[in-house]
Amino acid sequence: MDISTTSEWGRVSALAESFADLDLRCLFAEDPGRAERLTFRVGDLVVDLSKQRVTGETVEALVALADRAGLSQRVEAMMRGDRINTTEDRAVLHTALRAGQGAVIEVDEGSAGRTNVVGQVHDLRGRMADFCARVRDGDWLGCTGAPIDNVVNIGIGGSDLGPSLAYEALAAYRHGRLRCRFVSNVDSHDLLGALSDLDPATTLFVVASKTFTTSETLTNAATARRWLTDALGDGAVARHFVAVSADAAAVTEFGIDEANMFEMWDWVGGRYSVDSAVGLSLMAAVGAENFEEMLRGMCIVDRHFASEPLHRNVAALAGLIAVWYRTFCGLPTRAVLPYSQALRRFTAYLQQLDMESNGKRVRFDGEAVSYETGPILWGEPGTNGQHSFHQLLHQGTTVVPCDFIVFADPDFSDAPAEHHRLLVANCLAQTEALAFGRSEAEVAAAGVDPGLVPHRTFPGNRPSTTIMAPRLTPSVLGQLIALYEHQTLTQGVVWGINSFDQWGVELGKSLATTIADELSTPTQPTLNHDPSTNALITRYRQLRSQRSVT
Ligand code: F6P
Repeated sequence: MDISTTSEWGRVSALAESFADLDLRCLFAEDPGRAERLTFRVGDLVVDLSKQRVTGETVEALVALADRAGLSQRVEAMMRGDRINTTEDRAVLHTALRAGQGAVIEVDEGSAGRTNVVGQVHDLRGRMADFCARVRDGDWLGCTGAPIDNVVNIGIGGSDLGPSLAYEALAAYRHGRLRCRFVSNVDSHDLLGALSDLDPATTLFVVASKTFTTSETLTNAATARRWLTDALGDGAVARHFVAVSADAAAVTEFGIDEANMFEMWDWVGGRYSVDSAVGLSLMAAVGAENFEEMLRGMCIVDRHFASEPLHRNVAALAGLIAVWYRTFCGLPTRAVLPYSQALRRFTAYLQQLDMESNGKRVRFDGEAVSYETGPILWGEPGTNGQHSFHQLLHQGTTVVPCDFIVFADPDFSDAPAEHHRLLVANCLAQTEALAFGRSEAEVAAAGVDPGLVPHRTFPGNRPSTTIMAPRLTPSVLGQLIALYEHQTLTQGVVWGINSFDQWGVELGKSLATTIADELSTPTQPTLNHDPSTNALITRYRQLRSQRSVT
């Protein structure tokens, strides 16, 4: 179906024609109950949507659009285990990873029928917990008999961003001895930098790759294995390497015993996998109980998303507002600004989640969309951003909808109160300044030099969401992740695109394989790229050969 031909779409389009007239000052002045009415709660999260440029009518029209797109049915199909990722012919069941022990979730296995996956999910997590407990307790010994002090996770994309985000976010919950490092970039400085002060005898590598074909990860893993075996011999691999993957054969071929492999399933997408065995290094750092707590937090939001009517469903509403801005109001980007240093990797994590999911130009049926899809998502932790790009947020010519995330308590109980008070004050001040600005009249009345009045005027009317929670606990982190996962799906469903494939990454990968050979052949290869790429390859070869001559 082309959603853009429906009357529901037409209604939202018509409302968007007067987007410029939607003024937050007026909306608040006209409706004293607005802040309360547009603030929603899920789990520990309080989500204030009242500073978004929407009215009750906009929300109603967006909900009708979501109904027309079949959002509720799609969510049901996903959570039931249907193969909704049609271009890869897979189910999408990250929600099964956080379902309670007694739940029944039956993945559609095609001709093999349906299988309840909840048991295997919990069995695997039990294995992960046993393994992590041994590492944490110093019972998993390296080949010299020394306990493990450092875990190096080697993975990229979803096999890196989720666990590294959560490891940073849950610093207050980490084990006293164990440290994790996350290596993703094939640039050797990443790996060598991470290993530079480590002792092979006390280092454990977790090679995380769902496919076990990702060249960056396999290259880093091979170099790490050399680093280890050069120091401790080939026999060391068994005690110092474990794998997380869906491909047991590839893991064995790499030289890791299948007994040291933690399984992934094809129904968990990489960017939705922090709650799978990909979280092994995270679990080692924070312990199984905190990991389970994160999953319970996700489950709270899953239940809300699956059961709450759309007009009260926070994840759906936030996703629909994102569609409103991107598609109907023409705002190309969205900023996520956590006022929490512990969430410094959150935006990077969300970039994969949102942009790999919804950076799509064709619908399920292969037809090109006639409207804008996935926004460009970006951001930095506050207050740092205030001293760089917030200038543009306040006075630039582009309106950027922002998400602010803030916590009542700091992560560590001994944190100086003054820091946290200032952090929160800055967050709230930014949302106020963006929304209400300072008019020319107000600036002039403050006695500002008339020549400077236009420069010192803040137009305001810049929309934002504020998410507040008591503290960044494992559960709250899980709630936040699930909140954004479900917003991502909501947007994809309205746009009629498949949020679960990522074919757009393939062309670059296959070209890189060809070019890697062309860069290293001893004689000048015949190059069949475009003139620019051919010249760059040739230039690289010349520079390298000059360097080897000198
Ligand atoms: O190339 C993109 C991608 O497939 C992501 O979707 C995925 O998270 C990442 O690469 C890593 O994949 P893997 O876990 O198979 O190494």
